[in-house]
Amino acid sequence: MRLGVVQTSPKFGDRVENLRDAFSVMSAERADLWVLPEFFATGYKFVTREEVRFLAEPIPDGPTVEGLASFCRETGSFVVAGLPELSGDRLYNSSVLVGPEGHIATYRKVHLFGEEKRFFSPGDLPFPVIDIGVARVGLMICFDHLFPEAGRTLALRGAEIIAHPANLIIPGLAQRTMVVRAIENGVFTATANRVGTETRGEGTLRYIGESQIVSPKGEVLVRLSPDRPEIGVVRIDPLAARDKSLTSHNDKLADRRPEMYAL
Ligand code: ACM
Repeated sequence: MRLGVVQTSPKFGDRVENLRDAFSVMSAERADLWVLPEFFATGYKFVTREEVRFLAEPIPDGPTVEGLASFCRETGSFVVAGLPELSGDRLYNSSVLVGPEGHIATYRKVHLFGEEKRFFSPGDLPFPVIDIGVARVGLMICFDHLFPEAGRTLALRGAEIIAHPANLIIPGLAQRTMVVRAIENGVFTATANRVGTETRGEGTLRYIGESQIVSPKGEVLVRLSPDRPEIGVVRIDPLAARDKSLTSHNDKLADRRPEMYAL
């Protein structure tokens, strides 16, 4: 199958243009599964809760999921992408898996980063793994990379690919942790980060790009630039993630000793 990461430079608050820019860069190649950044259609650096509320959407009945579904219908592909979700009175930092038939699954970020804690409720849904036919896809978002439990939970649930929308700002950190997540779980990881800067309220955030796809052996199959909107597509065999053996005596999942991990 063909797995793609999409690196964009969203304009804050301009959903229509951000969707158009993403689809434009994606039109250069074909992929079975695309991963887009966290908050790819809205921008990230919110200043007030009201602002988040204004840009957040119900899932699945919002314009971003609708736009993604049209793209998937036209191209026969699947997409994972991040967006602020409005559910009742609550706001979540969410990602969706969408396919040619429309919305398939939602994940709400479990580990909130920095200022997100001012605006969003922590995720209250299980880490999802979905069989899309060509692969079993698990979802997590950005800062979840620093918690081995997130990747491990997805691997134990059968994920072959971890789809990881991100808005990374710490150089080199997730690019390394996601190699470890891939190795320790024997899975492919696809991290889609954004580029550009946002100066809003206090301070500026600079997003570090370097979106990447990593194999179950920890090989970096593609790593994008630190500063340009672009895509990276690689051909992978998801079945490579079914083999968890390290030696003839060792299996990355079966050798676990959960009874020894309790505090
Ligand atoms: C992050 O979780 N957006 C760093």
